[in-house]
Amino acid sequence: MTTPSPDNPNDLSPITRAQQLRDELWFHNDRYYNNDSPVISDGQYDALMQELRELEAAHPECRTANSPTQMVGGSPSDRFPQVEHPIPMLSLANAFGRDELEAWHRRVTDLLDGQPFRMVAELKIDGLAVRLVYRNGEFVLGATRGNGQTGEDVTHNLRQVQSIPHKLIGDYPPVLEARGEVYLPLDSFRRMNEERERNGEPLYANPRNTGAGTIRQLDPAVVRDRNMEIWTYSLNDTGDSALPSSHWDALSRMQSWGFRVNDQNRIFDTLDQVCDFYDDMLAHRHDWPYEADGLVVKVDSIAQQNALGFAGREPRWAIAYKFPAERANTRLLDIVINVGRTGSLNPQAILEPVVVSGATVQHASLHNEEDIHRKDVRIGDLVEIERAGDVIPHVIGHVPVPGEERGPEFRMPERCPECDTTVVKELGDAMHRCPNSACPAQFFESLKHFVSRGAMDMDGLGERWCRILIDRGLVSDVSHVYNLTSEQLVQLDRMGEKLATRILTNIEASKKRPLARILFALGIPHVGAEVADILVSRYPSIDELAQAGIDELADLYDYNREESQGVGPRIADSIVSYFVVERNWQTISELRDAGVQLWQELAPVNEDDQPWKGQTFVITGTLSTMTRREAEGKVKALGGSTTSSVSRKTNWLVAGESAGSKLATAERLRVPIIYEHRLLELLENPGMICEIA
Ligand code: IVH
Repeated sequence: MTTPSPDNPNDLSPITRAQQLRDELWFHNDRYYNNDSPVISDGQYDALMQELRELEAAHPECRTANSPTQMVGGSPSDRFPQVEHPIPMLSLANAFGRDELEAWHRRVTDLLDGQPFRMVAELKIDGLAVRLVYRNGEFVLGATRGNGQTGEDVTHNLRQVQSIPHKLIGDYPPVLEARGEVYLPLDSFRRMNEERERNGEPLYANPRNTGAGTIRQLDPAVVRDRNMEIWTYSLNDTGDSALPSSHWDALSRMQSWGFRVNDQNRIFDTLDQVCDFYDDMLAHRHDWPYEADGLVVKVDSIAQQNALGFAGREPRWAIAYKFPAERANTRLLDIVINVGRTGSLNPQAILEPVVVSGATVQHASLHNEEDIHRKDVRIGDLVEIERAGDVIPHVIGHVPVPGEERGPEFRMPERCPECDTTVVKELGDAMHRCPNSACPAQFFESLKHFVSRGAMDMDGLGERWCRILIDRGLVSDVSHVYNLTSEQLVQLDRMGEKLATRILTNIEASKKRPLARILFALGIPHVGAEVADILVSRYPSIDELAQAGIDELADLYDYNREESQGVGPRIADSIVSYFVVERNWQTISELRDAGVQLWQELAPVNEDDQPWKGQTFVITGTLSTMTRREAEGKVKALGGSTTSSVSRKTNWLVAGESAGSKLATAERLRVPIIYEHRLLELLENPGMICEIA
């Protein structure tokens, strides 16, 4: 008898497998919706979801109320104010082949008692769903889908999307709600990646996530620069206006009011016509300057739509008829190992070149040894690959060839291919790592990262120059870039005086980058730009951060719990470990000597602007009008200080929704408790604090 192995889904009981699928899908939902950085392709995600659906249908005991099959999209983040959707933003059922589309058509026919119905077929745009509200023709609110019930108010960003009208034209109803898909045009995406390549920065994986990330970041100017666009595809009844009785008419009315409506949309009477249209669109899927991953077929009559209604989270009157995933088979010629900035040994598949949907693919990602074993791929195998987005293809798995002998299982090297140090793999870490922080490959990656745009932003000093500076022995620690001289630079092949001056000017300017950028630039494992911001909000200098204890740092996680990326114990551990290493202190001290500002410059203090000086606040629970971080910022702007735990020294506890143990502690210690509405009043009239104190 074989023991059940978690790697073989067939060995698991339906309940265990369903739980495993739910966990996996939650993980991937979070990556996709909340971090805009999926690690599997849409096709792989759909396959997991399909397996879970089938399992739940066949074994009702496996169903749970919180299954991903019952949910829509991600959860709203707290970077933007939240908005309720009066009409939920739902999802669509998928048809992966003609038979599934026919089954949908039969179901609709049955439910409509055989009445004929027309269908509108539209391209399914691969972007970010948004809701746009107009009052008296003015664009007043734009929101993301979020979890379908509550989304994020991204109005400011959407105002920068040229094709979203600010003011409607013609005879529009007084209140209306349009929905559509915002996307990053492919040429903008390509331009962004070309620039990243020039700067030696990692490439964005695909336009969908980069576009979603653009709308969900805080700077509207970035949205404008990236030329985001929209296709609008539905109109909702939000009042008592008489809206068109057919979807097709609604689309043309929307167009007449100034909305951008896709001119590929068609209306049909029969399913054969829809299928011919699908074939035609599939053949042209790469001709458009945006990505579409299928058709959406919708019953045209609104009365018939209403009669059909919804099944769970999906309308019965529409279906997504997906284009097939873009896959191909090819030979796996080799697996090479690249050493990353943090010492991770990153395997990369070298493939016999193959054309997948118009692009030649010769490399694909393989995440780690476990991933390679799970996919059971070996050098020499025929493998299936999928181009999940525009750039980085994945290896799906091994394609058995009868009678073909296979090579040995892949093993990670025991020594670092760059510096020969013995590789380590720690418990709980999926990656093998080279522990030698002086490893040349790691240093090259660290230097590239240090000078990159999101970090110290030393424009002109791209990947090529990093390599040359290292090879010439001019730089062997990131701090050495500050010692570079014009004489040294102009001696380098193909480095003119002009470029040397530009590089040196940018190096000089980088000394005044905000502290969060410096923390990010240092490449402390797991400290990304967002975490660096959180750290600086607490520790305004590198020395204060270096003295923080692990629990205190981990507590920042607790404090920012509802953020998609908080600090947490793992990152806290990484920060503390970073400051233990002598070599890292040497880098910091050389940066300091070079004049790099290792503290956050605070606005000059004017006593009159500091009415809350000496007042300590603890903010707990969920606030409805702002995040805790924002509230903290406001308290600090008035001179107050904030801490994460309640003590007798705490002057005020601000209790938001679902405040827990801190509220109880405050009650016990008789710390004055105020609620959100009171905090808002106080922020309006900071002087009032003396009256209630
Ligand atoms: S209609 C009740 N039409 O696909 C849902 N959706 O998988 C009605 N999408 O959330 C949606 N193009 O983000 C519709 N022409 C189109 C679409 C479209 C893309 C997206 C949308 C939706 C998702 C559902």
